[in-house]
Amino acid sequence: MTTIDTQNSEPVSTPQHVAIIMDGNGRWAQLRGKGRVAGHREGVKSVRACVTRARELGVKALTLFAFSSENWLRPEEEVKVLMELFMFVLSREVKRLHKNNIKFEVIGDKSRFSSKLQNMINDAEQLTRNNDAMVLSIAANYGGRWDIAQATKKIAQLALEGKINVDDIDEQMLNNYINLSHLPELDLLIRTGGDYRISNFLLWQSAYTEFYFTDQLWPEFQSDAFNQAVATFSNRERRFGKTGEQVKGIK
Ligand code: IPE
Ligand code: IPE
Ligand code: MG
Repeated sequence: MTTIDTQNSEPVSTPQHVAIIMDGNGRWAQLRGKGRVAGHREGVKSVRACVTRARELGVKALTLFAFSSENWLRPEEEVKVLMELFMFVLSREVKRLHKNNIKFEVIGDKSRFSSKLQNMINDAEQLTRNNDAMVLSIAANYGGRWDIAQATKKIAQLALEGKINVDDIDEQMLNNYINLSHLPELDLLIRTGGDYRISNFLLWQSAYTEFYFTDQLWPEFQSDAFNQAVATFSNRERRFGKTGEQVKGIK
């Protein structure tokens, strides 16, 4: 962990890997008498702000939940606008990510997206593949249960082909096939929008993650709010099953 200065100039430890459930766009718009999609559009500014801030703070990986496997259940028009917005943002922002040495990745089942969107994602991943300042992963058509199931399927295939024994299967092996396992452990999971649930996000990866919930709606969550979440994280004591004394090095 590195040391950084936050707004209150206390030295704090930076989380290596932060994930965000970017929730509350629809309510943000409705509170202003606008349609839900206006909130999604406004939310793009928060994405930009958090990516920039995370990079400045030295976060190594930022994972954003943009569209869950359950979000297909929303009204067709909203899903359509979300897909268009995804393409619009990709076309506008990828160059900037590349300039800032950020590696872009999408996790989730991409096969359900239009071929145009799949191509745009592939191009962005290819362009930025050697960047190493930070990894920005966008979870799209992602579900934590899907992630565990797809890893299981790959391992079952290896067993069927006789490449591994069933007894070789352990947490480490499963982990290798789960998304994001090439990145640092997930340190901090932020959820905006005032709800206290994980909504099928990073189920496997969040085993020892610190959770940070805020009532702020996603379009309101800007740079300062990100700082605040990181500052809160730095004051948490992570025990990983041990006692507080052990962690402090007293016993
Ligand atoms: C999160 O905001 C964005 C997506 C799920 C795509 P919501 O659209 O869920 O906003 P609320 O929760 O209805 O306010
Ligand atoms: C979670 O938000 C998914 C994303 C932010 C992309 P939802 O708005 O879909 O979650 P629920 O339905 O309130 O649990
Ligand atoms: Mg929501």
